[in-house]
Amino acid sequence: MGLAFPLLVLFLAVICSLCILIFVGVIYFELSNSKIPPGVACPGKLRVIHIMMISIAILGKIFQNLGLCNPVNFTRYVREQLMVGKLGEDPKLFIKDQQFENVPVRVYQPRLPSAGGRKGVMFFHGGGWMFGSIDTYDKLCRYISKETETVVVSVGYRLAPEHRYPAGYEDCLNATVHFLKTAKEFGVDPSSVIISGDSAGGNLTAAVCQSLVNKTDLPKPLAQVLIYPAVQMIDFDLPSYQQNRAVPVLYRERAAFYMLNYISDDLSSLEEMLDGDHIPVETKMKYRKWLSAENIPDEFKVRGFKPRVMSSQAEEVIEEVKSALETACSPLLAEDSVIRLQPQAYILTCEFDVLRDDGLLYKKRLEDNGVPVTWYHVKDGFHGIVSFFDNGNLSFPSGKLAIESIASYIKNA
Ligand SMILES: *[C@@H]1O[C@H](CO)[C@@H](O)[C@H](O)[C@H]1NC(C)=O
Ligand SMILES: *[C@@H]1O[C@H](CO)[C@@H](O)[C@H](O)[C@H]1NC(C)=O
Ligand SMILES: *[C@@H]1O[C@H](CO)[C@@H](O)[C@H](O)[C@H]1NC(C)=O
Ligand SMILES: *[C@@H]1O[C@H](CO)[C@@H](O)[C@H](O)[C@H]1NC(C)=O
Ligand SMILES: *[C@@H]1O[C@H](CO)[C@@H](O)[C@H](O)[C@H]1NC(C)=O
Repeated sequence: MGLAFPLLVLFLAVICSLCILIFVGVIYFELSNSKIPPGVACPGKLRVIHIMMISIAILGKIFQNLGLCNPVNFTRYVREQLMVGKLGEDPKLFIKDQQFENVPVRVYQPRLPSAGGRKGVMFFHGGGWMFGSIDTYDKLCRYISKETETVVVSVGYRLAPEHRYPAGYEDCLNATVHFLKTAKEFGVDPSSVIISGDSAGGNLTAAVCQSLVNKTDLPKPLAQVLIYPAVQMIDFDLPSYQQNRAVPVLYRERAAFYMLNYISDDLSSLEEMLDGDHIPVETKMKYRKWLSAENIPDEFKVRGFKPRVMSSQAEEVIEEVKSALETACSPLLAEDSVIRLQPQAYILTCEFDVLRDDGLLYKKRLEDNGVPVTWYHVKDGFHGIVSFFDNGNLSFPSGKLAIESIASYIKNA
């Protein structure tokens, strides 16, 4: 009897230590797969963020195996808790949650009255079409609204895997159309609406701007702001994909996974997609003029690039990725007649980001078609850096400079 309790404690201590050891081991293993190249901003902070993300993923897996909850929901929940810190009222803004055509939105309106119509900004958040929310981008949207004295509409579009393409895209389009029609009610000049988003949200921005081309009864957007956008899922061997394949927080495989998960419930073609075997050679040849690494300036190849021999496995487009070729899904593949009519653009790219060359290629397509582009390249940036512009100890000065440049573009557009 006297020994039972200490023995139990000892037993539990051993179990706990083992668990911690395994946990640390898995984190260590994951970290050893990653690569933070010299030149990345604040590598120590990026490591910390990466470790946090890995830990959340591992815990999610554990809870899933215990039958407690779905890892996607777990990750969403934890990120919400980490990023939000419930901001409450704002002395300078009216903030209101409402619905535009059944799509949840949060509208940020400066309290100070304005003489004429203000500019409006639609904002589509990032997160691989799978994560992210109005709440996790609350700080960013407040910043933009205050700094630029614009009315910001942040869109809570539906996410994959529960709702795949085109659900999220349609929500963004419907909310935007509604806002363009009702802008005056918010004190906004309908011809001064800017569409914006980061990462997956940049993809949705480009897609929405292209879809608006045919809606001639609506005012044309004033501009589009694309923050490290994903604009294609044909080529995963562009220089930026090769150079940054293992740079946190967005690995090459992970980027491809998010894209496939956005459009298809069959994830079995991921490997073929990464190898470029999901699209037949003729189709690739057709898009070559827009997609080729030859369109990427040489200065972006010095960190290493091997042109890839085009494989010819695929006879036809793999069924699961058919919608990848729809332009609402792949803005980079739109015809010149659509590109030519796009609003002026601000494009932000990061050097250490697999999606860098997506941004560069879209920039070239717009410029080749006479659309003015303001380009901002974050030389020490990694994917997601703008989200950490004001994140307590884990803030990045170049993220702050980037968001200031975005604000300045919106002010002057
Ligand atoms: C997350 O939770 C919601 C509500 O419980 C559920 O409808 C949804 O299917 C879950 N998501 C996943 C990916 O399982
Ligand atoms: C949203 O957009 C889709 C297609 O663009 C359309 O079919 C649908 O009716 C719209 N929904 C609402 C509520 O307006
Ligand atoms: C716009 O309309 C033209 C012709 O009506 C059509 O070919 C094109 O696909 C449409 N574009 C979009 C983005 O819907
Ligand atoms: C949006 O992302 C999807 C999935 O990666 C891609 O197929 C599509 O081309 C992208 N759309 C644009 C407009 O870039
Ligand atoms: C993090 O920030 C808090 C306050 O925001 C401060 O007290 C703490 O010392 C900081 N920690 C580090 C490691 O800088």
